Amino acid sequence: MSRIREISYDAGELAITWENAGRSELQAIWLRDHCQMPASRDPGNGQRLLNINDISPDIAIDKASLEDGKLIVEFGPDGHRSEFDPDWLYRNCYCLNRQYDDRSETSKLLWRSDSFSETLPRHAYPNYCEQARSKLAALQAVRDYGFVLLDSVPCEPGQILKVIETFGFVRETNYGPLFEVRTRVDPNNLAYTNLGLGCHLDNPYRDPVPGLQLLHCLESSTEGGESILQDGFMAATILRQENPGHFATLSHNWINFRFRDDSADLQSRVPLIEVNDRNEVIKVRFNNRSIDTIMLAPDQIQQFYSAYRHYAEILERAELQVVFKLQPGELLLFDNTRVLHARKAYLASGSRHLQGAYSDLDGLYSSLRILESG
Ligand code: OGA
Ligand code: ZN
Repeated sequence: MSRIREISYDAGELAITWENAGRSELQAIWLRDHCQMPASRDPGNGQRLLNINDISPDIAIDKASLEDGKLIVEFGPDGHRSEFDPDWLYRNCYCLNRQYDDRSETSKLLWRSDSFSETLPRHAYPNYCEQARSKLAALQAVRDYGFVLLDSVPCEPGQILKVIETFGFVRETNYGPLFEVRTRVDPNNLAYTNLGLGCHLDNPYRDPVPGLQLLHCLESSTEGGESILQDGFMAATILRQENPGHFATLSHNWINFRFRDDSADLQSRVPLIEVNDRNEVIKVRFNNRSIDTIMLAPDQIQQFYSAYRHYAEILERAELQVVFKLQPGELLLFDNTRVLHARKAYLASGSRHLQGAYSDLDGLYSSLRILESG
């Protein structure tokens, strides 16, 4: 419970001294816009009923007082009266709360290969299905580290779609609801060969990029084919530390990506490192197979290539790479806006078969918040 020790105000601003410590200075316009009364918010669903133009540009605080533990504010010029629960104000006030972005680097646990000396974030799928605690921990791992390994997932084709239904929705694409990752004749994508794949994030040519990728191993009897994961947010922060100019170049210069086959021609123009309004990393992209013709202002070309080369060199550092071999029944679920994946080449003898699919981060975060509040 947060209690108010003291208030003071003038027409433009209300100042609150809190018993728990701290002080809030809240502008009249913000207070009026965040009025929680039934005339301003639907009492059932909590959605705002008010438009910004319903509030006078001359909005002012006429009077403020404390009554029965509530803060009462009377506004001019229309005489509107709002009651605020101090607890709500304390939790939502823009002076006390970090205006955080749960997708950005500041909300994540950044990692290198030695961050997982014990074991990778891993959960048994039967536990995940039966115990809310296990599911919560698995989804938290995706939020915090950007990936989780589920094991003992039934080795059945299509199972990957059932896994997605446990936390969100399938993001169907031109590859279908799921795609088969195995060697094919005349493949439309190098993933469908036995070649190694350099570290990448999938599908930067889609708008929006699928936020989550899943790879479910059904068969793996070949030599080679190990998986590599790395934290793209960590790599981007290393780039910024080593050369802030290179970081700025990759976040300010957008480049084109493209995928084309007989039935699809997908194109986007996006940065390799995407930042939010506070210059924090929120998404990374990297995929040498699908970068289209690079089109930049002539005076940016040299600088772009230096920065791109530097970033790619960081991504090759072994200390950033976690290497393991997916076994049948294992499923990797990862944040495709953060965690890069790669595959080592494998021999043609034996068989290797993964199924892959995409989903979106908003569904997973939503399931996670519901579990956390339950
Ligand atoms: C992919 C991919 C990796 C693998 O299909 O997107 O990168 O291990 N596959 O085959
Ligand atoms: Zn891939």
